[in-house]
Amino acid sequence: MNNPEMNNPEMNKPEFPVEISNLTKVYKTRSGSVNAVCDISLCVNGGEFLTIMGTSGSGKSTLLHLIAGLTNPTVGSVKINNNEIYNLTDSQRTQFRCRNIGVIFQAFNLIPTLTALENILLPSLIDGQNKVPLEKLDNLLNALEIYDRRYHRPDSLSGGEQQRVAIGRALLIDPAIVLADEPTGNLDSVNSDNICKLLRNLCDKEHRTIVLVTHEKSVADWGDRCITLKDGRIIDERIINSNRKEVSA
Ligand SMILES: Nc1ncnc2c1ncn2[C@@H]1O[C@H](COP(=O)(O)OP(=O)(O)OP(=O)(O)O)[C@@H](O)[C@H]1O
Ligand SMILES: [Mg+2]
Repeated sequence: MNNPEMNNPEMNKPEFPVEISNLTKVYKTRSGSVNAVCDISLCVNGGEFLTIMGTSGSGKSTLLHLIAGLTNPTVGSVKINNNEIYNLTDSQRTQFRCRNIGVIFQAFNLIPTLTALENILLPSLIDGQNKVPLEKLDNLLNALEIYDRRYHRPDSLSGGEQQRVAIGRALLIDPAIVLADEPTGNLDSVNSDNICKLLRNLCDKEHRTIVLVTHEKSVADWGDRCITLKDGRIIDERIINSNRKEVSA
């Protein structure tokens, strides 16, 4: 990749790490068209924790995938750190994602033949980083409470453990932007709270930007702002009271 801006996003400090304009996604199926995302414009501030709610099928995952550069929009633009990501080639976009965006998928998307550890290391390896500091890796495995499970393959992990591996895979690269699709959907309340605290700390202490999809208001309330989708459109936006629980280190 020869574009210096893409290699050094810091060179050109964006006003908004995530800037979406008039974004529309229509899926064409045999039985007709589905308007999954309809004309959404949205900016997410640096260090902001944005949460997205909405009923099943309202377009939350589609919106997240569009922001991640994983599915081409029918209409509209997605700028990440001032880069129009759908102007990049597929391989440029993959590399850009590996350097800038950590994606936590709703369905985990772990590679079944790789161990938990190998799954977590995958984005770094794709980006050509062969040496991840051991201490950093161990700290992350311990924070997610999966250190003892690191040599297990996904089929010998519980749903909650798989979910935490998927979170580890997204976070190991220290992404400036984290996109999380129901990251606590398979977790008990203690683990769910731990993950929310971890993500909250990434915003508060490291100025990372987070967009998180959830069905649970208690999870959404960890954010700074919550938008609600219905039929692919934003129907509500609320600023969350900063009077939330104190987050410890
Ligand atoms: N690949 C696809 N092809 C066709 N239609 C799709 C595809 N993916 C999603 N859809 C449709 O687009 C709409 C939005 O789906 P999406 O997965 O974004 O919803 P969601 O809000 O994430 O739902 P959930 O809360 O159940 O995860 C739904 O009507 C869904 O059936
Ligand atoms: Mg979804």
